[in-house]
Amino acid sequence: MDAILVTGGAGFVGLNLVEALLGRGEHVLVFGQEAALPEPAPTRFARLSGRLEVIQGDVRDADTLRAVFKNRRIGAVFPFAAVTAGPAREAAEPHLVLDVNLKGLVNTLQAARDAGTVRRVVLPSSGAVYGESAYAHPVLDEVATPAVPITLYGVTKYAVERAGLRLCGHWGLDAVAARIGATFGPWERDTGLRDTLSLHLRLARAAMRGEAVVIPPAPLPAYDWTYVKDLVAGLLALLDVEEPPHRVVNLASGFDWAPVMADCLEVLRQRFPRFAWRHAAPGETPTIAWNESRPRGVMAVQRAADFGWRPRFGPAEAYADNIGWLLAKPHPGLG
Ligand SMILES: NC(=O)c1ccc[n+]([C@@H]2O[C@H](COP(=O)([O-])OP(=O)(O)OC[C@H]3O[C@@H](n4cnc5c(N)ncnc54)[C@H](O)[C@@H]3O)[C@@H](O)[C@H]2O)c1
Repeated sequence: MDAILVTGGAGFVGLNLVEALLGRGEHVLVFGQEAALPEPAPTRFARLSGRLEVIQGDVRDADTLRAVFKNRRIGAVFPFAAVTAGPAREAAEPHLVLDVNLKGLVNTLQAARDAGTVRRVVLPSSGAVYGESAYAHPVLDEVATPAVPITLYGVTKYAVERAGLRLCGHWGLDAVAARIGATFGPWERDTGLRDTLSLHLRLARAAMRGEAVVIPPAPLPAYDWTYVKDLVAGLLALLDVEEPPHRVVNLASGFDWAPVMADCLEVLRQRFPRFAWRHAAPGETPTIAWNESRPRGVMAVQRAADFGWRPRFGPAEAYADNIGWLLAKPHPGLG
């Protein structure tokens, strides 16, 4: 059986993907900066039917990546290692963002090309590629909506899909780019390389600590969230499809969560009774940083349906599932 390489596989999305791949019996290679997966992943993943290898290395080092392909037959690659820089880091360390997100990608694709065994590459793009367009269009469509990324991270993600598809075309690698929407759920933790954790994890942490939080005034800005189990199902669809109907596809929930955030907060309050929340009064500063201050368009999900995938977790299902995860001990998400 050919192995599947996941760079950044010990990160948030990576761990969820690796768990799903191992669950279906795959041989998975995790390549990243971590020497081992965070607890309790090693224990949990050992119960799954697949085979796991964890290889510590840096995607900026082409030789280390080439060595991963030596003596192994790798059939698919998820080159997911990335630095998700906030404003301070992109200003202070632009080379780090470019080197990891772009040079690291090219190194990975070159190693895959040289191996000659890879039949599918799933490129990790992002809803961040819509950038300015997200504030001007109510629906963010892969074809009709111009990509105008704002952040350096968003620029690199657009380059990941454009350069990635171009190079894969030159090199005989069959690639699909997933524009991943803002995601939350199990295994999310601070890797030190993603500067803003999801709003849902930050709210859950506050709830578990029994804090009283003040959120922005109503109405909250429009924003679509994606539950990570939906995302992983979408990534598996992109891995498995024989003939991709599209080369760039949004993977997102496809609806605005702003109107249901109060319901989500109530779920937390009921489960953690010492937790309280309210909207800020006029002129009052919220105690929790919201992920956006301006309403954003929602990512279209019609193209993803052509891959046989559709999101299944509404807010209620996602919160019920995620709270189960939060209460399972030990886990790395609480920090
Ligand atoms: N989380 C989201 O909401 C979201 C949204 C859109 C796209 N994505 C994409 O999904 C992918 C995974 O993101 P995530 O949220 O899991 O991030 P994360 O920070 O949780 O994980 C990133 C992983 O990349 C690894 N990494 C970083 N620099 C590396 C290097 N130089 N060499 C080797 N490994 C390195 C880290 O060790 C870490 O395991 C990224 O490509 C990201 O752009 C994520």
